[in-house]
Amino acid sequence: MARTKTVYRCSECGAEHSKWQGRCDTCGEWNTLVEESVAPKVAMAAGGAARRIGGTRTLGEGGSVATTPRLRDISGSDAKRWKTGLDEFDFVVGGGIVPGSMVLIGGEPGIGKSTLLLQVAARLQASGHRTLYASGEESPLQVKLRADRLSGDAGDVELLTETNLETVLATAASAAPSALIVDSIQTVFTADLEGAPGNVGQVRECAARLMRFAKESGTTVFVVGHVTKGGGIAGPKTLEHIVDTVLYFEGESTLDHRVLRATKNRFGSVDEIGVFRMSETGLDPVDNPSELFLGDRHTHASGSAITALLEGTRPVLIEVQALAAKAGFGTPQRVATGYDGRRLALLLAVLDKRAGLSFASLDVFLNVVGGVRLQEPAGDLAVAAALASSVYERALPADGVFIGEVGLGGEVRPVSQVERRIAEAANMGMTRVFVAERGVPKRAGATRDVQVIGVRTITQLFEKLFA
Ligand code: TYD
Ligand code: MG
Repeated sequence: MARTKTVYRCSECGAEHSKWQGRCDTCGEWNTLVEESVAPKVAMAAGGAARRIGGTRTLGEGGSVATTPRLRDISGSDAKRWKTGLDEFDFVVGGGIVPGSMVLIGGEPGIGKSTLLLQVAARLQASGHRTLYASGEESPLQVKLRADRLSGDAGDVELLTETNLETVLATAASAAPSALIVDSIQTVFTADLEGAPGNVGQVRECAARLMRFAKESGTTVFVVGHVTKGGGIAGPKTLEHIVDTVLYFEGESTLDHRVLRATKNRFGSVDEIGVFRMSETGLDPVDNPSELFLGDRHTHASGSAITALLEGTRPVLIEVQALAAKAGFGTPQRVATGYDGRRLALLLAVLDKRAGLSFASLDVFLNVVGGVRLQEPAGDLAVAAALASSVYERALPADGVFIGEVGLGGEVRPVSQVERRIAEAANMGMTRVFVAERGVPKRAGATRDVQVIGVRTITQLFEKLFA
């Protein structure tokens, strides 16, 4: 069989090269050349090898006239989503799986991606949606042994152990399943490219072909992607651009709970999270994440503060722990887990300048409990309170929650949807919520069971707490 012609394209400037080289002649960038196929008759999916700069073609030449129906005449609705019954999963993807969509699930090795997808496959199969599980990572026996552990019966799921993408696609086209699972995108390859499986060109091309297959056949395609050291899914951002939905599966390897997070979703809201617990029989959805995250809390210790995060549409209470301890020689340490190091440095500077708390001779450790990543500025107030609590060695009120963004002037700023956060605090039995003064909800409803305390600056907060 004749090989498809391939070129190497610079991912920085788009220049085309006939063979691989370390540096792009055109823009001078290193390691940016990515192999890509130039099959003339196949319309290229995302990535666009068809884009031609300075080409000589006349407009419209070689094209055929397509139909252009009015939007109102297009049939189909959102009601066709498939529910797996794995509630946390359905919730994160936006209320069920959309037929013909492509979903990427990223995560570190061993976090539970294969387990989750096998459970999803079992549920889909049980509800009458034929499911094909293509594994390029494990032997049939390995997949079967995993299936045997699961509480749900995965016995009917069809298995293909194959790494050649053409074979996977041909098999899927003939079996015509409702869902195809490819575990993982880094192990499959297309014979049309020379590169080894897992390299950027291969990953991108395979993903583009799977996407085309999903759209043309109406099969939902799930792909597993391993994350690289930098935390991205290999095959840079391009892979995330190609697919409809990107889910990250995260968690601390020492803990048994896992957080599934949507970071891109063409069919639902992003940043929704679902929480699971890894048990002996697979992943169990956790109904009340706040309860789980606050479970092991030691309330009388200094340096512990609770905040209410809003992940997508769902508020979750989490604990922030700070420890400020006398530093040894040299530059004091700043170690943040689950929190941005630069944001910590900024808050330390604000505490120093605006509240007179010096950390110059202190090592500072900050930990967001439960392997959760605290990215929202709404968590600032809790981080500031935890840091101050550790310096003063005074515990914060055990039933207190801190919600607010801290500005460079030490001012406390209101955050979005504070009422929902307060309501979650009340649900969890908290009685005092500290928020920005301007952000105290006007309506009484949300604040029925809790005392909402408005503060203008961090200094004012510390006066209330430690006076
Ligand atoms: P796996 O799904 O293989 O991870 P990934 O595909 O992301 O690499 O899950 C690996 C871990 O999960 C492994 O350490 C064993 C554990 N596990 C359980 O604790 N319970 C179970 O029922 C299963 C199937 C796996
Ligand atoms: Mg796996």
